[in-house]
This record gives sequence, structure tokens and C-alpha cells, in this order.
Amino acid sequence: MLRDAAARPWYAEGPPRFVPGYADLHRMTRILLAEWTAPDAQVLVLGAGGGLELKALAEAEPHWRFVGVDPAAAMLELAERTLGPSSARVQLQQGYIDDAPDGPFDAATCLLTLHFLDADERRRTAREIHRRLKPGAPFVAAHSSFPQADSDRGRWLSRYAAYAIASGADPEKANTARAAVDANLSLLTPEQDARILSEAGFRDVEMFYAAFTWRGWIGYA
Ligand SMILES: C[S@@+](CC[C@H](N)C(=O)[O-])C[C@H]1O[C@@H](n2cnc3c(N)ncnc32)[C@H](O)[C@@H]1O
Repeated sequence: MLRDAAARPWYAEGPPRFVPGYADLHRMTRILLAEWTAPDAQVLVLGAGGGLELKALAEAEPHWRFVGVDPAAAMLELAERTLGPSSARVQLQQGYIDDAPDGPFDAATCLLTLHFLDADERRRTAREIHRRLKPGAPFVAAHSSFPQADSDRGRWLSRYAAYAIASGADPEKANTARAAVDANLSLLTPEQDARILSEAGFRDVEMFYAAFTWRGWIGYA
């Protein structure tokens, strides 16, 4: 599947090289979820492959339990290895949102993933996440989302590649990633993305993270 094939080499190169403040994004996500969830929360993580946000959340919140869902077997294997001992509190499930348990969950995240889905599928997926949450439960989403006017898009994509190169990525790989983002991702503006979350049923949607081509939001079921 194209979106998995697009994600794997990128992940191997290292998300922190492509996502400014990647570790801080996890820290902020944990703080935002913890504002509203019990110390023994059940958290749904969609697009959990690779396992880096699962590891960060599990280590910061030793009583949270997780269901991590991802369609790519290789990414789930990597998550299992990345998690180490924390994997005891994580149920990994191969599949899409429709394969996730009904919950209801106390919180959910979907990081660096919804940009693989076109607007309709993104809205449907967000609705299905909403359906699996307890009333009022928080949801954090973060992914590629930036101005899409012809005059803006190329400039921001170049900044995306420049950040990766400045962070130590191989320049050829960074430019290949730039071309893959341009060609393969379903890129929307931050305004469109926030609207999709509201249309999916989330209330009080607020942007909390903006870094070059990346944005993150919190909303409540
Ligand atoms: C770039 S990785 C991000 C992994 C992790 N969330 C992180 O932040 O490190 C994107 C993941 O989304 C998964 N993915 C692609 N399409 C998906 C979908 N429709 N539903 C859930 N996960 C999907 C891919 O298999 C891949 O593991």
C-alpha cells in the first residue's frame, strides 16, 4: 500500500529529523491528555506503527494502558521493539480504525498519520475515533498541514526539506521525502483540518502546535 510504503523509509530516517519539536510534541500530547484523563486511562493510538509516541506516553504515564492500531505489519513489529518493557501495557492491533475495539476510551491520539487520508476518509476516521471515546474525552491529532496556495506550497515544502537537512538527514533522502510528501500526501490547510475535526464531532478544537509544515490540535468528544 502506497501510504505504508511512503511511511516506512521516512520513519527509518528518523521522525525527529523531519518534525521540529518531535519529542516536545509527545510531551505536550501527554500533558493535554492528562488534563482530562484518569491516572489509569485507556488510550487509543491510531497510526501507532514505529511506536515512538506510545513509548513516550507509556514511560511518562506508568498506569495508562494503550491500544495501538496500524495497518503495516512491519511498523507494528518496529513498535514492539521500540516499546521494550512498556509493551506489557500496549495491545497492538493490525488494521485501520474500523478494526479498533469500540472502547469506550478515555483519550485518543493520531500523530503523523491523518495526512495519508483524503478529506472524506479523514473526516470518517475522525468520526470513528470520536465514536470510540467517552463523552468529553480528549483527542490529539498532529500531521502535515500548511498553506496550500500555489505561491505558498513549494516554499513550505522546501523549508520541510531544509529542516531535515539541517537536522542531519541525508540531503538526497530529504529531497526524496519532499517529493514524496508533495506527490503522495493529501495536504490540506490548517483551517480545513480544524474544520474536519469539528465536523467529525469534536468540540472546542484548538491548535496547540505549529512547526513549519506541521500542525497539532486538541479537541473533545
Ligand atoms: C509516519 S508513521 C507515524 C507513526 C507514529 N504515529 C509516530 O508518530 O511516530 C505513519 C503511520 O500511519 C500508518 N497508517 C497509514 N494509513 C493509516 C490509516 N488509514 N489508519 C491508521 N494508520 C495508518 C502507517 O502504517 C504508519 O505506521
